[in-house]
Amino acid sequence: MNTNPIAELLVTKRERETIMQDALHLKSWDLSHRQICDVELLLNGAFSPLTGFLNKKDYSSVVENNRLADGQLCPMPITLDVTEEFAETIAVGDTIVLRDPEGLVISALDIEDIWKADKTREAELVFGSIDKTHPGVGYLFDQAGPIYVGGKLRGIELPVHYDYQGLRHTPNQLKTWFEQQGWERVVAFQTRNPLHRAHQELTLSAIDEIDGQLLIHPVVGLTKPGDVDHHTRVKCYRRALSSYKKGTAHLSLLPLAMRMGGPREALWHALIRKNYGCTHFIVGRDHAGPGVDLSGQAFYDPDAARDFALSYQEEAGIKILSFEEMVYCKEKVRYLPISELQPGDTPERLSGTDLRKLLDEGKPVPSWFALPGVVEELRQAHLPLEKQGFALFFTGLSGSGKSTLANIVETRLLELTGRRGTMLDGDLVRKHLSAGLGFSREDRDRNILRIAFVAGEAVKHGGIAICAPIAPYAETRKQARALISEFGQFIEIHLATPLQVCEKRDRKGLYAKARAGIIKGFTGIDDAYEVPEQPEIRINTAEYSAREGAELILKELAKRGLISLVESSEVQALNVA
Ligand code: PPS
Repeated sequence: MNTNPIAELLVTKRERETIMQDALHLKSWDLSHRQICDVELLLNGAFSPLTGFLNKKDYSSVVENNRLADGQLCPMPITLDVTEEFAETIAVGDTIVLRDPEGLVISALDIEDIWKADKTREAELVFGSIDKTHPGVGYLFDQAGPIYVGGKLRGIELPVHYDYQGLRHTPNQLKTWFEQQGWERVVAFQTRNPLHRAHQELTLSAIDEIDGQLLIHPVVGLTKPGDVDHHTRVKCYRRALSSYKKGTAHLSLLPLAMRMGGPREALWHALIRKNYGCTHFIVGRDHAGPGVDLSGQAFYDPDAARDFALSYQEEAGIKILSFEEMVYCKEKVRYLPISELQPGDTPERLSGTDLRKLLDEGKPVPSWFALPGVVEELRQAHLPLEKQGFALFFTGLSGSGKSTLANIVETRLLELTGRRGTMLDGDLVRKHLSAGLGFSREDRDRNILRIAFVAGEAVKHGGIAICAPIAPYAETRKQARALISEFGQFIEIHLATPLQVCEKRDRKGLYAKARAGIIKGFTGIDDAYEVPEQPEIRINTAEYSAREGAELILKELAKRGLISLVESSEVQALNVA
């Protein structure tokens, strides 16, 4: 029963006070990003009829039969996964509180069941695969905790969002708004992409088909890794919205954590939109598709999601509008469903990868693909490669030439592009950022991760980071790569100068000290240097002058489109090993 006008499962003020009092003694679980998305949609009624995280009986029934134990449709198991350590501290019958990352109490959970998840069975039945390339499967195996906790929620407050507050609505708020507008037939369009013209054509046809209105209902919780971020997308949606006839389209953001589960996910999406007051739901080709598996095969047939959702539409209580792929026909100068193309018609296509390439190169995006306003937003968010941040991560033995090359590259970048790098040289960093750290494995790792953190910040803001530590351990370099690559290209440069050469150079006299046993744990002498397996660039500085080595690096940057380089014939003759 709905007691709260905004969100179904929020408790009364008095009950809230009692829970907050009890919270002093109750066990707390800190929710992950995905769990917060789930809790928000449980509390606000978007996941109705669910009133909490699935208990064991309902979970098994959902996994096996796509339904709750009482027979109601429920295609996606909504579970609270926790660690073994946490599970050992709680028991059936306990109440725990669920907190957001800042520690705010979002809800109480009255525990009905605690059990070990059979993740393989869940992956096979829900996603039809145990291949971790599938984002839903990958999350289940690698990120979700091993133990599930089921039980009812008693909501304290909805998770807080500070962005686009005017565009966020609970199901009750949206239903009330539809009523006020007199919208009786509303078709929802689910998307995790910026709204391109193909999507617009499809949604315009949907409005015509139902003789009603459109709800643009993009997911802003968790989407597929690599998707355009939701800030950019929301700006695109706002631009695109102006091209619909007044009073025919509405924009609202859905804080859903997608699982990319194809057929089951399509039905789940439809049921959620019914809860938001929509009467129709668009399912296009390969809805919520996770891409291809390890062998390059699509996880689902492109029509599977549509067929699955259609087969349940009566019971689901929301009509599925299925749409073919819309393609732009060059000869007819308009969009058409793909099956309506005639012999001699040329379909124009632009994949996500093609679009990224055009933006990377600063080239025009065709007007048939997206509205000028949408392209403008995409351009602002995705600068051409020459303006994007990147990191040069030198690694190699002491004396291999890291600082020398890093300094020349920094100067040459300034000369060629006017861009100043953020220099994070090993020795320098140890004087300030890593002052006090020694050369134990832990300290070296800490040092590299600090460098990576600062470099990541520089790259995030469009800067060039030049890191030059020894970075002897492969695992730590991998972590640095992961931290930085989130924001821009990570170019690992291995200076493969042989130990004998470095030792002969011995400009600091450290090798002599290490050989004499005065310095312990010296890299290459009595501490390991793990050679990078696949660096972007590998240079043996014994074979080139310092200037030539630096030019090789610049040449590689030019090849990657990160700088433009007018090469001298001397440089053209060089080749990266
Ligand atoms: S690490 O392993 O990446 O954290 O090392 P880094 O921060 O680059 O520091 C390396 C410089 O410290 C000096 N030094 C040592 N190097 C290696 N092993 C030991 N035990 C050691 N003790 C001091 C050395 O001068 C390194 O500088 P470079 O520029 O590499 O010669």
